[in-house]
Amino acid sequence: MQAALYSKHSTGGIRLATVPRPTLSSTIYESTSTTIIRFFLFKIINSVFVCIGYLMYLLRWLIPTIPGPYGEVADRQWVLCRVHCGGVNPVDAKFLYGDKLPHFCLPLVKWFVEDRICGIDFSGVVIEAPPGCGYTAGDAVFGTIPPFCGSFAEYVRAPTDFISHKPKNMSFAEACTIPLVGLTVVQAFEDNNLTDGQHVLVLGASGGTGYVAVQIAKIKKARVSALAGSRNAEFVKNLGADDVLCYDHSVDILKDLHSIRSIHGPFDLVFDSVSSHDPQDSNFAYETRIHNSKPKLITGMYILIGGVVTDWILAHMKRFFGIDWFAKGRQLFWVRFPNSAKRLELLRYFCETNQLKVTIANRLPFTEEGIREAFRLQMTRRTVGKIVIEIVPEK
Ligand SMILES: NC(=O)c1ccc[n+]([C@@H]2O[C@H](COP(=O)([O-])OP(=O)(O)OC[C@H]3O[C@@H](n4cnc5c(N)ncnc54)[C@H](OP(=O)(O)O)[C@@H]3O)[C@@H](O)[C@H]2O)c1
Repeated sequence: MQAALYSKHSTGGIRLATVPRPTLSSTIYESTSTTIIRFFLFKIINSVFVCIGYLMYLLRWLIPTIPGPYGEVADRQWVLCRVHCGGVNPVDAKFLYGDKLPHFCLPLVKWFVEDRICGIDFSGVVIEAPPGCGYTAGDAVFGTIPPFCGSFAEYVRAPTDFISHKPKNMSFAEACTIPLVGLTVVQAFEDNNLTDGQHVLVLGASGGTGYVAVQIAKIKKARVSALAGSRNAEFVKNLGADDVLCYDHSVDILKDLHSIRSIHGPFDLVFDSVSSHDPQDSNFAYETRIHNSKPKLITGMYILIGGVVTDWILAHMKRFFGIDWFAKGRQLFWVRFPNSAKRLELLRYFCETNQLKVTIANRLPFTEEGIREAFRLQMTRRTVGKIVIEIVPEK
């Protein structure tokens, strides 16, 4: 049975059908290829993606040291794990409606997504591992599995460079919430050289990535100003934020930011987990308002993690071709899973030394209804901390 399991990324998972993109026509799947132009555009875009894919494979075949699209390396080792819990992220839900692709590409999404299992974050127990890989059967681990492989499953096959030993002081439910958001924050701060005493502004400080960003910025001894809804002000303060601004109580957020600036100086880094291409998020135009404000509110990098589609195209150009066309002082940061074991060990250390704490907003059962409810809650954009799918319920 285990040999069969090894041939797949995950088994015993729950497969969800694609769902219509919120706020868009629900008949999209039936009616998109009705015009010739759409049909040709769909074909052209599809062909470009396929050509880039084949080109990457050809290059990797010629030069094996070139990492694949997700940074795969030739000698990667895999372990087979029994999953105990899966952590829910917005990307899991967005996966079901092709969040980043143009409307007319949705048939491609449907074709690609149907019959696949969702989920990236997991925690569980190794049941089979190749000798000398650093893990043995019985080890408790946490980490991610490559996108589109599906961690909301009974068993997963995980690359050893995507996982680490689970923090000893945490339950499986707590541990599974950390990898994706923790890696995003650690890598974004490392790439932008966050150092002691710098001034960081975290937008969306009560959400899944934001609440980890506040804690890790404090671990890095930065001064943290945080923006959240007023009902979460106390929660964010307790995470260690030095100043908490409430967007729903403030008459003028920019004025409040300038007051902080006049005392503590401009921000060295802004970590924005709110802005996205969704109008409900982009209406606030935090980036434009902060960048255009005089005197200067920010001297360093404005990091977006959920930008508009053009930002994602630039992020792909940067990742796959090394071409950085982002305007100076702004970037869309995109988490990297391959070779993340060292960063997961760092996150484990933060947890075991009680510097990084986890807040679980909801625990949901491993059923189709449970996963759909988890996605519904996640997409309200009002989750405080993280949502967990319990595959092996904890006693
Ligand atoms: N690029 C990457 O590698 C990467 C990695 C992780 C996540 N992401 C993306 O980043 C985004 C955030 O992810 P997440 O897991 O942190 O989401 P989340 O848990 O849903 O958090 C969203 C937070 O945004 C806050 N918010 C909503 N409207 C706001 C407003 N008008 N002003 C200020 N805050 C507002 C909410 O705070 P209140 O409830 O307090 O209002 C909520 O806590 C998602 O789009 C996700 O897909 C990208």
